[in-house]
Amino acid sequence: MSLTPVTLRKPESTDGFALNNLVERCKPLDTNSVYCNLLQCYDFADTAIAAETADGDLVGFISGYRPPARQDTLFVWQVAVDSRMRGQGLALKMLLALIGRVRADGVSRLETTISPGNEASEALFKKAFRLLGAEYSTEVLFSRETHFNGQHDDEVIYRAGPFTQSAPQPAQA
Ligand SMILES: CC(C)(COP(=O)(O)OP(=O)(O)OC[C@H]1O[C@@H](n2cnc3c(N)ncnc32)[C@H](O)[C@@H]1OP(=O)(O)O)[C@@H](O)C(=O)NCCC(=O)NCCS
Repeated sequence: MSLTPVTLRKPESTDGFALNNLVERCKPLDTNSVYCNLLQCYDFADTAIAAETADGDLVGFISGYRPPARQDTLFVWQVAVDSRMRGQGLALKMLLALIGRVRADGVSRLETTISPGNEASEALFKKAFRLLGAEYSTEVLFSRETHFNGQHDDEVIYRAGPFTQSAPQPAQA
């Protein structure tokens, strides 16, 4: 039920710089180098999705990859929606469209990490799991003390799947 029209599509390498800016605007996401974002758009385009307005502004993005040892899994790295586009269902729409695309290529599970207290992210993924009919479990994957030298919140991994239902799909993905 997005109110502002957007097009969902596979990223291209030319999205990398705008993606770097979008992520910088989307606290509390960790920022990456432009080079990292370029690679997400180039080598990992099959497991990512971009949302742009009619004016060509990049207003949403999900980056991800298939872990080499778990090819049936989409690991979602980051979800970013420009503040002016939030609350319109765009993140959920992108996530379901991306999952629909990778399911056709053998993906039946999803993993992501969320820092405790990121209620928007928790609500987004729990809703997606519900729509996909996927059970999930959680555990601390990277801990503040052990992995971040006390300088970053814990990262809790959500492991969901297998998907048992088809979720509603938007027109373009
Ligand atoms: C998290 C984020 C991507 C959500 O984008 P969005 O397009 O506004 O999300 P949606 O409108 O698709 O909402 C999906 C669900 O999450 C819920 N939700 C969204 N924002 C929420 C918030 N701030 N608090 C609680 N729930 C929230 C929605 O209510 C909706 O559930 P519902 O349909 O049952 O009501 C966006 O807020 C964002 O970019 N935040 C900053 C970066 C970030 O934290 N990313 C996630 C970590 S990877």
